[in-house]
Amino acid sequence: KKGNYDHFMQKEIHEQPHSLTTTMRGRLKDKSVILGGLKDHLKTIRHSRRVVFIGCGTSYNAALAARPFLEELSGIPVTMEIASDLLDREGPIYREDTAVFVSQSGETADTLLALDYALENGALCVGITNTVGSALARKTHCGVHINAGCEIGVASTKAYTSQIVVMTMMALAIGDDRISNQARRESIIDGLYKLPSVVGEVLKLDGQINDLAKSLIDAQSLLVFGRGYNYATALEGALKVKEVALMHSEGMLAGEMKHGPLALVDETLPIIVIATRDSCFSKQQSVIQQLRARKGRLVVMCSEGDASLVCPGGSCRVIEVPQVADCLQPVINIIPLQLLAYHLTVLRGFDVDQPRNLAKSVTTL
Ligand code: UD1
Ligand code: F6R
Repeated sequence: KKGNYDHFMQKEIHEQPHSLTTTMRGRLKDKSVILGGLKDHLKTIRHSRRVVFIGCGTSYNAALAARPFLEELSGIPVTMEIASDLLDREGPIYREDTAVFVSQSGETADTLLALDYALENGALCVGITNTVGSALARKTHCGVHINAGCEIGVASTKAYTSQIVVMTMMALAIGDDRISNQARRESIIDGLYKLPSVVGEVLKLDGQINDLAKSLIDAQSLLVFGRGYNYATALEGALKVKEVALMHSEGMLAGEMKHGPLALVDETLPIIVIATRDSCFSKQQSVIQQLRARKGRLVVMCSEGDASLVCPGGSCRVIEVPQVADCLQPVINIIPLQLLAYHLTVLRGFDVDQPRNLAKSVTTL
């Protein structure tokens, strides 16, 4: 089942050019997106007052990655809810809301309880899941199967990238009736066609990332700073490192750095800064400058060709990744971090596919 790989997580990371291809199969036609599971509901979604994304863990992070593009294309306010927190607060959900539930397994207890709650409150409930016939798929009004193929490693990898792609396609489908978006839409659709092969390119960084992992093997802690489209990348990269490599790791919004986290910076704490090209690039450049001024131990992820720009003088480690359309960049940027979590785990001697204390789907409360 694992083929040439040592672990399912490793196999699933390297399978992403293929899983992304199957996710998109039959859903892109020339310059348009067809999501069979949503087409009869698009009008209702477009008329909703708000879209609420609801999920846990990696699935929540995937929704967070897709949020900016959905806001941009639909013009509808998009809010985020961690399923357990929505339930704890009994937060308001209205009939005019579209509630989008994201779950790889489709069986996560918190997510399903939040679904019951949203159904009771009369929202249109949409599912995004990898599991045909799951409780989520059955109970939602409509939805999209991500078709990433069975995911066995406890750490979710290929489901994350397929979820982002499905939610990006969902944004394209919802925003379809706006002429003003046309050029933007076409460039993203073009980017979707090319995405699997670019993911294949990023996977070639495997050896370089293994070297990076060797340099971090004894670190006590790891911070990951991102913003904009890649705030989610920071959260998800840190989640992977903590759950499988059993290393304390936090993803942080770079815009919040001065409001506390900066106090942690010294010459020993490793910090990954995501600074690929998009509208936040210059802000991330100044974050890097401030971290360098405090002698932070930096690893910068940047677009190809930007190494000397983000790190003049070569005083930090750099991971260069190919540049794609801004809203698809999170799919590319998470891959070196998935590889880092994987290699750190192997080097530290922990169980990759069965991390301590964790279960693949959390079906009890
Ligand atoms: C469907 C078929 C696919 C076929 C294609 C051909 C299934 C599962 N999918 O894919 O095999 O190749 O048509 O046109 O038979 N749904 C929910 N909640 C969810 C997920 C999905 O209600 O969380 C519903 C959808 O609204 C839809 C159905 O399940 O009615 C299937 O969804 P999906 O597989 O995404 O639809 P297609 O891509 O059209
Ligand atoms: C992390 C991970 C978990 C799940 C979470 C939700 O790698 O796998 O954080 O993402 O338990 O699971 P699903 O998506 O099945 O609802």
